[in-house]
Amino acid sequence: MNLDDFSQYARHRVDDYLTQSLSQYEPATHLQSAMAYSLFNGGKRIRPMLTYAAASLFGEANDLTDASAAAIESIHAYSLIHDDLPAMDDDDLRRGKPTCHIKYDEATAILAGDALQTFAFELLSDSKHQNIKVQLQLIQELVQASGRHGMVTGQMIDLANVGKNINIDELEQMHQHKTGALIRASIRMGAISTSANSSAICEADFAALDTYAAAIGLAFQVQDDIIDITSDTATLGKTQFSDEEANKPTYPKLLGLEGAQALAKSLHEQAITAISPFGDAAQPLVELANYIIGRNH
Ligand code: IPE
Ligand code: IPE
Ligand code: MG
Ligand code: MG
Ligand code: MG
Repeated sequence: MNLDDFSQYARHRVDDYLTQSLSQYEPATHLQSAMAYSLFNGGKRIRPMLTYAAASLFGEANDLTDASAAAIESIHAYSLIHDDLPAMDDDDLRRGKPTCHIKYDEATAILAGDALQTFAFELLSDSKHQNIKVQLQLIQELVQASGRHGMVTGQMIDLANVGKNINIDELEQMHQHKTGALIRASIRMGAISTSANSSAICEADFAALDTYAAAIGLAFQVQDDIIDITSDTATLGKTQFSDEEANKPTYPKLLGLEGAQALAKSLHEQAITAISPFGDAAQPLVELANYIIGRNH
């Protein structure tokens, strides 16, 4: 499958699952409208793609793969709603459309983020899956990646560093938490979800995937910093030079644009090398790595 076909396949599966799971609940109509706005307003679905690509190394994607992909995308959507709030990055534009708090209002955006966060765990803990052991493992992965050990701490470090000169190790630590942790979980959860079909995944496989994930997770954020200055607002779908305006520490600021591009390239190579033992089965992961460092939005 080429990347276009694979991305369509993944998008279709995760969007169907999200749509079905976000069933009507009368008292929450307004809240759900804001949740749906942020879930279905044109995200690239990179994390779900990584989940399905990792699952495909070990077996057929199943219901728990869908729940994992949907849960991760839900956490991602919540993180972006809160990231754009006036108290955080104060951005008006996301995916070429008004951010959630502009389209609705601040209180609704805060609550939609809260509800998307718990929605993720509603999906993973659903008793219809009847696989408590795998479900608990998936929940533990997502908790680790999204909470105080992961994304939220990354966001805290990001905000604490506004206007500061931090070194490359500190920048890397921030990004590992802010973006890397959820990307790593997307990959690990894809693999773990297939153990519901009883395929055994050995330590060496997880180690290879973690090396790939660490490299590609960091490359993703290096590229995010690069495109903030190299892509215009229309291409980005978010405001160009937003990092500069907010005085954020970024890779191009620390390494120069060319230095940041060289780092993204070297991380890409590390990622590809790590998954070479999987052979042809890893083709979707290879293509996703290419996409992540080649993207302009
Ligand atoms: C943007 O993530 C925010 C970061 C974590 C750097 P994506 O570029 O994956 O956002 P969407 O979902 O495609 O809009
Ligand atoms: C957002 O990082 C990361 C999370 C929401 C966890 P950024 O602030 O760099 O993302 P953009 O540039 O607004 O998409
Ligand atoms: Mg931010
Ligand atoms: Mg932001
Ligand atoms: Mg950014």
